[in-house]
Amino acid sequence: MKKLIRTGRRGLLAAASLAALMALPFGAAAQAPVVIKFAHVVAEQTPKGQGALKFKELAEKKLPGKVQVQVFPSSQLFGDAKEMEALLLGDVQLIAPSLSKFDRYTKKIQLYDLPFLFDDIEAVDRFQASPAGQDLLKSMTNRGLLGLAYWHNGMKQLSTSKDKLTRPEDVKGLKFRIQASDVLEAQFRALGANPQKMAFAEVYQALQTGVVDGQENTWSNIYSQKFHEVQKTIAETNHGVIDYMVVTNAKWWNGLSPEIQKGLSEAMAEATAFANKMASDLNNRDKDLIAKAGKAKIQQLSKEDVAAWRKAMEPVWKKFEGDIGRDLIDAALKSNK
Ligand code: LMR
Repeated sequence: MKKLIRTGRRGLLAAASLAALMALPFGAAAQAPVVIKFAHVVAEQTPKGQGALKFKELAEKKLPGKVQVQVFPSSQLFGDAKEMEALLLGDVQLIAPSLSKFDRYTKKIQLYDLPFLFDDIEAVDRFQASPAGQDLLKSMTNRGLLGLAYWHNGMKQLSTSKDKLTRPEDVKGLKFRIQASDVLEAQFRALGANPQKMAFAEVYQALQTGVVDGQENTWSNIYSQKFHEVQKTIAETNHGVIDYMVVTNAKWWNGLSPEIQKGLSEAMAEATAFANKMASDLNNRDKDLIAKAGKAKIQQLSKEDVAAWRKAMEPVWKKFEGDIGRDLIDAALKSNK
């Protein structure tokens, strides 16, 4: 008897799901939402963290039931060392590495790391919107990577565990964590310092334990990672930029339906405008919070100090001009007003 009831229930359930299936338009039963994993390495309260959450909100609103965006901040899914590879393998669909982390894929993007190339983030924005800047988004398709957008963070500041940090000679012999970029390596060598490539997730501990003496980053990254708690001085050098390219796997993207591509492109454009608009505010807020925390001293620089840093880093331009191309450097310089 019991057995009969069980079978009876199962039969009922099967009939019910068959009826539900038949009520759906043809083919709809197979359409599970496209799951889009978006991994990044920074905290949620940063410009990139906020942009990723905005993209999720907009994409799911524009394509209800058709896409599901899962955001993984703070290297939770993949860190610097693995995220590009994971994207190419299809283990993640969107990542937004800093522009300093692409030099294995195209030498041209090394442009963004040239010290003192851009006067400010507005100049970076003008260059990225120009034909030369937009071309770079597609410069890695032959390697399987398609750039969908640029997202701003901001200008880089230099920090160390020392009291004095006003002139290039103050960093001689010090060890600096750098992103995986040959230009940044050359930049610190030009200063007589010792650069060490390291994943973002490892920087706090490396600073805390003295594995490195210093690093370069934006106010929002310094604050959200608590670098100011393990550094003595942060000099306001604005010597370079940390911006991002949101990239996807070109093959995966090309396999999406036109409707999904359109919805995602619109969500990306709106999330980009949102993230870029708030980037400066977040960096200004975090600079104030660092000042208020009273742990690291913020060192302002005179015009002469800045000129000295600029001069000390100048050799880097010559070294990479051939790889980057003079035309591209000139196009970037034109965006400074
Ligand atoms: C870094 O690695 O220092 C940063 O660029 C991380 C990030 O994505 O902002």
